[in-house]
Amino acid sequence: MSAEGPAPRRADDPGAIAAAARLLQEGRLVAFPTETVYGLGADATSEAAVAAIYAAKGRPSHNPLIAHVASLDDAQAEGLFSPAALRLAERFWPGPLTLVVPMAPTGRVCGGARAGRDTLALRVPAHPCALSLIRAAGRPLAAPSANRSGRVSPVTAAHAREDLGAAVSLILDAGPCAVGVESTILACLDGPPRLLRPGGLAREALEQALGERLAGAAKPGDILAPGLLASHYAPRAAVRLDAQSLEAREAGLDFGGRFAPGARVLDLSPRGDLAEAAANLFSFLRRLDAAGPAAIAVAPIPRKGLGEAINDRLARAAAPRE
Ligand code: TXA
Ligand code: MG
Repeated sequence: MSAEGPAPRRADDPGAIAAAARLLQEGRLVAFPTETVYGLGADATSEAAVAAIYAAKGRPSHNPLIAHVASLDDAQAEGLFSPAALRLAERFWPGPLTLVVPMAPTGRVCGGARAGRDTLALRVPAHPCALSLIRAAGRPLAAPSANRSGRVSPVTAAHAREDLGAAVSLILDAGPCAVGVESTILACLDGPPRLLRPGGLAREALEQALGERLAGAAKPGDILAPGLLASHYAPRAAVRLDAQSLEAREAGLDFGGRFAPGARVLDLSPRGDLAEAAANLFSFLRRLDAAGPAAIAVAPIPRKGLGEAINDRLARAAAPRE
């Protein structure tokens, strides 16, 4: 796998966070770890810095970015929180939850980061490196996942370097991401909160906190957020879902030990644990794909809890490519 650009720098090296913050203040791009996936960060208040994100990812400019902030207070300077949004933020931040809210009059996040919308996606990540970086930079950081648009999301610094190395000034390395799938996105606009993207915070936890069922069908293939194209997270190989067994020249992405073990099989969680499966999902897809199989066969995975996000990502990986 080709890797250009700077070698990742350990996030706990003395001076690493300060150096990264300075680069961000100068309008450069820095890849950094969060608890979900690695992000490609830029100063969210700078049109030029944000434009560099879209260019590096090959991302359509109509697809808005998430602004990462260090606290609910900082989030409320950027966006207007309904009572439901406030309850969820207090309960789940820092954490793998992104809230789409109306922008506040005091907001500093630039129009490019919002793709021209008057709403804004905000998140407080639960990762000490990400939080230190945001504080040191002293501004919200726009950060999509640090992969090329449409490809598998990065859960290690090496993945971020493979996809985007040449475009970033610095990659902060804090090891593999604990959650492994991107944040759950909820729109808190008019009416009840709507689920835009299932992710690292399970629907059940949100519904329990809200005391009601979430609006918004999360059927795989639904496009509710502008960035959620049906085909996404695409490895090079074709992907075959709900496979009961392997066919010739297929690699296997197993769950709970359904396939016969073999060199071409990786089990997301032999003991059937969905959090473990989410943490392994993108790494295992990359590893299986690297062997150049005819297809990747995926065992059935339950749809409850984090299984909703896992199935969503796999359905997009299997969708017809544009
Ligand atoms: O876990 C995550 O969310 C990671 C880490 C780095 O924080 N970030 C991430 O960003 O997944 P990205 O850009 O890959 O996905 C952000 C999604 C896109 O589908 C985008 O369309 C949606 O958020 N989004 C952003 N702003 C929005 C808005 N104002 N309204 C609706 N959807 C929005
Ligand atoms: Mg992404």
